[in-house]
Amino acid sequence: MTADRPFFITTPIYYVNDTPHLGHAYTTVACDALARFMRLDGYRVKFLTGTDEHGQKVEQSARLAGVSPQQFTDRISGAFRDMTRLLGISNDDFIRTTEPRHIRGVQALWQELERRGEIYLGRFAGWYSVRDEAFYDEAELVDGKAPTGADVEWLEEENYFFRLSAWQDRLLAYYDANSVTVAPRSRRNEVISFVKAGLRDLSISRTSFRWGIPVPGNPDHVIYVWLDALVNYITAVEYPDTRSPEFSTFWPADIHVVGKDIVRFHAVYWPAFLMAAGLDPPRRIFAHGWWTVEGQKMSKSLNNFIPPKQLVDTYGLDPVRYFLLRELPFGSDGDFSHRAVVGRLNDDLANDFGNLAQRVLVLINRNCGGTVPDPGELAARDLALLDAVQSLLGTVRAHIVEQSFHLALEAMWRVVGEANRYVDEQAPWALSRSDPGRMRTVLYTLAETLRRLGLLAQPFVPSAAAKLLDQLGVATTARDFSALTEAPLAAGTRLPKPEPIFPRFVEDAA
Ligand code: MSP
Repeated sequence: MTADRPFFITTPIYYVNDTPHLGHAYTTVACDALARFMRLDGYRVKFLTGTDEHGQKVEQSARLAGVSPQQFTDRISGAFRDMTRLLGISNDDFIRTTEPRHIRGVQALWQELERRGEIYLGRFAGWYSVRDEAFYDEAELVDGKAPTGADVEWLEEENYFFRLSAWQDRLLAYYDANSVTVAPRSRRNEVISFVKAGLRDLSISRTSFRWGIPVPGNPDHVIYVWLDALVNYITAVEYPDTRSPEFSTFWPADIHVVGKDIVRFHAVYWPAFLMAAGLDPPRRIFAHGWWTVEGQKMSKSLNNFIPPKQLVDTYGLDPVRYFLLRELPFGSDGDFSHRAVVGRLNDDLANDFGNLAQRVLVLINRNCGGTVPDPGELAARDLALLDAVQSLLGTVRAHIVEQSFHLALEAMWRVVGEANRYVDEQAPWALSRSDPGRMRTVLYTLAETLRRLGLLAQPFVPSAAAKLLDQLGVATTARDFSALTEAPLAAGTRLPKPEPIFPRFVEDAA
């Protein structure tokens, strides 16, 4: 297959003031599923993640930990890199905002904005939240706190400002030109009404702390951490070298996936910065919802802070990935509970998909000499099942284009259900005596169905899918989506001994 259509996808870059948790794992796993899907579907994908290492919050956290900001960020950035390995993430790059390639690019962008008259020096007086690294208007405060509940402090300093107020119409035109730029719809509406309400110029430098990228020509100032951070999406594709093959292939990004809390930075400030510098804004920004844990907001003080490692150690990687993507519509909030994970794991994975695979592989092993059976003529019932799985790619793709992971998985599991009903109806174990020819046709139909389900399952549960495809004797070179139609199972292929792909989760009696 020729992988020539580029697709650039990003996660937010994670603050290093805290170690990785369920929320970070969520965004990263969703992007990974999307990146894997697009690769298998023939795209040349660049999948970027990384860490956001500057700012007052990080400087404070380092001080509390008694180490220098650089030592601190090295350590926590390492923990995020470990998280990508732990979760089987297929990122092509991992950017740190303390890297020279990034610092150079941020300063170049600053100079470009300055050259174009988009920046001026002024005086800021207003509220700032270190936790959110965000400025707030008096009118936005709720009971003296940020709308997010974070503490705010009064700030008066000399700051550089970006002329955001001048970008209102062009931002609205950008949202209008493409109805899918900001998704889901609720977030799009929120962003549009924020912009329609009028934009104020944005403070983009700070003077009261040091841990940041110095403003070119005025090193008393460091660049506002959100401007610094957002620019990672272009420094990772070699900005300021806009003529490089990397930049011209991958910019503008096809999608920035973010949490709902940071949609304003991505859908308002970022496109404005880009357009002001003469660059194209991203094609799409998707904001997902937030998880609570057992009904409560996740926080260290409530002792319900879930490190990804704890999840993977308890349930295994594929079940965690499946749960995160299947449980909630990707734009909605929802609750993470042990009971819900075990339910999905034992019902959808072990009982439905796992059992289907196990039944079919064991029957083939016992009754067909451990080789792919030779089918006779396919009956209408066989063709109906094969058609159902064949048309899945189109259905799943349509959902993935909208980041509706849960619907993609639901559609796949409907076919798993059909296949299980087909096994019950056809009862191949009984056919082994009465009609071995028909048994071989039925088992072939099932094996081929499993192959196609296994191919489609790869972006979501990569290890289990690989294990299933291995057991069906599918060559590793025949696993992209073109193989769905082009490379059916060859009768006579010798198969390894069956092994369960999704073991049941057994509760610890203790
Ligand atoms: N550093 C900024 C992003 C800069 S991107 C140019 C940042 N970092 S963060 O580490 O605080 O958050 C990263 C992501 O984790 C956000 O998209 C946020 O929505 C997500 N989550 C944090 N807690 C979460 C939940 N409890 N549930 C789901 N996602 C959550 O913001």
